[in-house]
Amino acid sequence: MKADRVRWNQKYQDESHPLEPSNVVKRFFRMAKKGRALDLACGNGRNALFLVGKGFTVDAVDISDIGLHSIPRRSEGLNLICADLDDYDIPQEKFDLIINIRHLNRRLFPYILEGLAPGGILIFETYLEEKGKKSKKISCRDHLLRSNELLHSFLPLQILYYIEKREKGGAAIASLVGVRPK
Ligand SMILES: C[S@@+](CC[C@H](N)C(=O)[O-])C[C@H]1O[C@@H](n2cnc3c(N)ncnc32)[C@H](O)[C@@H]1O
Repeated sequence: MKADRVRWNQKYQDESHPLEPSNVVKRFFRMAKKGRALDLACGNGRNALFLVGKGFTVDAVDISDIGLHSIPRRSEGLNLICADLDDYDIPQEKFDLIINIRHLNRRLFPYILEGLAPGGILIFETYLEEKGKKSKKISCRDHLLRSNELLHSFLPLQILYYIEKREKGGAAIASLVGVRPK
């Protein structure tokens, strides 16, 4: 939605964001066949660039044009797509790897499942709602997973890894890695 673009453009203008790829991506990307990858809500491209460096061709989607423009180098295997994931169509059975890091849009769940090629890998990690630390704003809670929600949502996959944990000095997160059966 348009408000997301305004909010995130402001954030990318005002704040610095990590350039180091996510640990969960570094740890599990090798499970995917080196082929086509999709990075949903790619932000400054830290994970997309990492995957391009590892030989993947990456479609990297984000609503923030400022975030996308901050991507330090253009690369042949990187296809930057400025789009709103509220109405973005994920092509079916196209991707050997889909990553969704630190973003939650439940509308996408069935399309993510369909977007994976048989044998394709999903790496999904984002924030969990914490008991006793509830945000009063429903709009904020919309962006937080409930306990076990991620696991239940992707049960059509063969689940290779699932964890809910608190990051060192940080927020509670859930991480899932799954494979679409062939
Ligand atoms: C916390 S950042 C995570 C970025 C990246 N995945 C990472 O791990 O560095 C969340 C990202 O979601 C993007 N985003 C928020 N709402 C969106 C929407 N409706 N459509 C597409 N991207 C959106 C923001 O622009 C932002 O880059």
